[in-house]
Amino acid sequence: MDKLRITGGNRLEGTVRVSGAKNSTLPAMAASLLTAEEVLLTNIPLVADIRTTRRLLGELGVRVEFEGNHSVRACAETIVSNEAPYDLVKTMRASVLALGPLLARTGKARVSLPGGCAIGARPINLHLKGLEKLGAHVKTEHGYVEAEAATLTGARIVFDKITVTGTENLMMAAVLANGTTVLENSASEPEITDLAALLTKMGAKISGAGTPTITIEGVRELHGATHEIIPDRIEAGTFLIAGAMTGGDLEITACEPAHLASVIEKLREVGVAIEAGRNSIHVKANGKLHAADVTTQEYPGFATDMQAQYMALMTQADGICVIHENIFENRYMHASELLRMGAHIRIDGSRAIVAGKTRLTGARVIASDLRASASLVLAALVAEGETVVDRIYHLDRGYEKIEEKLQSVGARIERVK
Ligand code: EPZ
Repeated sequence: MDKLRITGGNRLEGTVRVSGAKNSTLPAMAASLLTAEEVLLTNIPLVADIRTTRRLLGELGVRVEFEGNHSVRACAETIVSNEAPYDLVKTMRASVLALGPLLARTGKARVSLPGGCAIGARPINLHLKGLEKLGAHVKTEHGYVEAEAATLTGARIVFDKITVTGTENLMMAAVLANGTTVLENSASEPEITDLAALLTKMGAKISGAGTPTITIEGVRELHGATHEIIPDRIEAGTFLIAGAMTGGDLEITACEPAHLASVIEKLREVGVAIEAGRNSIHVKANGKLHAADVTTQEYPGFATDMQAQYMALMTQADGICVIHENIFENRYMHASELLRMGAHIRIDGSRAIVAGKTRLTGARVIASDLRASASLVLAALVAEGETVVDRIYHLDRGYEKIEEKLQSVGARIERVK
C-alpha cells in the first residue's frame, strides 16, 4: 500500500488547479444507464472512485472509454445485467447510484446493500422508500436490494432527511416515469444541480434543482449528451486550508467560488485573507489564525466533507473552538491521529473541542476515510519533522495526484510505493 512521506514547515506559494468534482461525476456516469446513446463527460477527475464506477458500468454492459483529457464516453446501448455486485459496492457505496437508473431503464435492479462505513451507518432507507412511492416493488434479501417495476409512476415524495445520493437516485428514477414527480426536502448541493443539467441535456424535464423542491415530468426516453462536470469544491476547500495553515499565498484555479461561500466566510472569520475571482480564489495568510466554532450542515451550509480539514486548521488557531458534526454520527476518526501529532482535541459526542495553537510534530499516522486522510496531510504540512501517512488509498479515492499538486506549490511531500 502506498504511503505519503511529508516534511512540514514549507510555506505554500503559487497556483494550483482544481479537478472536476468526484461527487458530480459518479451520478453523471450512472445517468448514462438511462439512454442507449452515448454520454460524453468532460472535466472528470481521474480518481479511484471513477475507475470503480467504470468497472461497475462495464459489468452492466455499458461501453466506457476514458479519453486522455479528463473525459469519459459511456454508452449503455445494451444492458446485459442489472446487478451491482457486493465486491464493487463494498469498495464504493456510491455504486448504489445504479439503482434508480437501472430500475427506470430496465424495470429491474439488484444492488448490494452498501452497509456501514467509517463515518457512520449510512442507511439507504430513504432511497428505497422513494422508489416504492414511484410504484416499485422493493425487497432486501441476502444482502441485496431487489427492486422491480413494470412502469414507474410519478408521485410526491417528501424526504424525512436531506440526502444527496437519495435525491440523485430518485431524480434518475423519475425522469422516465409516467407523470410528474415532486421531490420535497431534497438536497440542494451543486452536484444535484449539475446532474439535473446533464439530465436536461439528455431530454429530461426537471425544474427546481438546487432548491428543496424538485419537479420532474417523466418522458418516454432520453438521448445522448455532452456535459462538462463542475469543479470539485471540496478539493478547492482543502487547498484553501492548506494555504491558510502554512501561512501561504495560493491562487486556486478552475474552481467555482460560489460553491464555497460558507467555507470562505468561515476562513475570513478565522483571519484568512481571501479574494474570490470569476473561477479562481486567492488565499493569503500571515499565520495569525483565531479559533471559530463551526457546525456542519447541508448545502449551502458548511460542508461535512470539509470538517476534518477544518479541524486540522483549528489546531493552528489561537483559542478554543467547538466543531459540531451534524450530518454523520462517527466522523471524528482523524482526531485520534491528530492527537498523535500533538494536537489538543476532546471529542464529546457529536462535538469536538479543539484548543490551539499547538505545536505539531511529525509521526506515522493512518488514514481512515477520504477526508480524514486530507486532514492528516494538512497537519503534516505544518508539523515539525517527517510524517508518514499510511492507507492513502482512501485519499486516492477522491483527490487526483494530490502530492504532485502540493509539490508544485512548494510542499515537501512524496509518494512511497
Ligand atoms: C454524499 O453522501 C456524498 N457522497 C458524501 O461525500 C457527503 O459527505 C454526503 O453526501 C453529505 O454531504 C457522494 O455524493 C458520493 P447523505 P450520501 O445521503 O448521499 C442519512 C466524500 O467525502 N441518510 O446526504 O451518502 C445519512 O446516514 C463523501 O466525498 C439516511 O438516514 O450522504 C446521513 O446521516 C463522504 N437514510 C445523512 O442522511 C438514507 O436513505 C446525509 O447522508 C440516506 C441518508
